[in-house]
Amino acid sequence: MPFDISQMNQITLNNGQVIPQLGLGVYKVAQAAAVDLIGEAIATGYRRIDTAALYGNEQEVGQGIRESGIAREEIFVTTKIWNDRQGRSETPAAIEESLERLNLGYVDMLLIHWPCPTQDLFLETWQVFEDYLRSGLVRGIGVSNFQPSHLERLIALGGTIPALNQVELHPSFQQPTVRTFNANHGIATEAWAPLGRGRYAEDQTLAKISRAHNKSVAQVILRWHLQLGTLVIPKTTNPERLVENISVFDFELTESEMAEIANLNTGARTGLNPDEFG
Ligand SMILES: NC(=O)c1ccc[n+]([C@@H]2O[C@H](COP(=O)([O-])OP(=O)(O)OC[C@H]3O[C@@H](n4cnc5c(N)ncnc54)[C@H](OP(=O)(O)O)[C@@H]3O)[C@@H](O)[C@H]2O)c1
Repeated sequence: MPFDISQMNQITLNNGQVIPQLGLGVYKVAQAAAVDLIGEAIATGYRRIDTAALYGNEQEVGQGIRESGIAREEIFVTTKIWNDRQGRSETPAAIEESLERLNLGYVDMLLIHWPCPTQDLFLETWQVFEDYLRSGLVRGIGVSNFQPSHLERLIALGGTIPALNQVELHPSFQQPTVRTFNANHGIATEAWAPLGRGRYAEDQTLAKISRAHNKSVAQVILRWHLQLGTLVIPKTTNPERLVENISVFDFELTESEMAEIANLNTGARTGLNPDEFG
């Protein structure tokens, strides 16, 4: 049965933007497949797409949205500026290029992809983001992979507080410190690799909970994120999984199941360490 989009939970960000709590991530979605995938996702009920300059598919994401038959304003589009385009001299052109590739008039959310502390240009980059926010070409600005130490410096500028911080987050890497810092500053936490890129297929705890609800392990993990209040952007290129991943608003994990999943945290990240990368 297709997903009933009235079930989708909406989150209000600190800048007033209202966004669907669950969207589609398109990292590693090939250009040749992206237009059809976006069409299929929107037909399934997805109203939020997460791309990036790095992913090489902004143009196809924009085309898929334009051809979807759904009004532009109903789709929330996030993109990200890559590390080698940070700083006052590079970032304006990088934003213009993303806007042009997407060709959707404006972007809903623009993120600094990584803080890159060695090059240390993220404060300048943020100020360029603020210029674009004022222009209206960008409706919301945020960050990705920022640790509290990076956010503290950004907040100390005294300007715009990021609307969200997109970080690696899944049952074995739950990021309690980052989540608490974000929450204390009104910054929404968004999970990348929310499914841990498929690494939980054999997990016994998640399998037991999934049997209790007659849901898949992926659905249990996504439900756990939703109940934590996290924004999620699971990626799939499989039409059946598109439906599976969004069909997570019709059941609820108990407190003890949430606690069992909390116990799966090992603190071991699978991706790069933002303090060391760039
Ligand atoms: N900001 C950053 O630095 C950053 C880094 C990484 C990712 N991201 C964003 O986060 C999004 C999601 O992260 P991710 O793509 O790395 O990992 P993910 O969403 O945790 O996992 C995707 C993997 O899980 C599989 N999968 C999806 N649904 C499934 C299901 N229901 N059952 C079993 N397997 C399933 C997918 O395969 P199939 O496609 O074959 O279904 C794919 O191999 C990305 O697409 C990107 O938008 C951001």
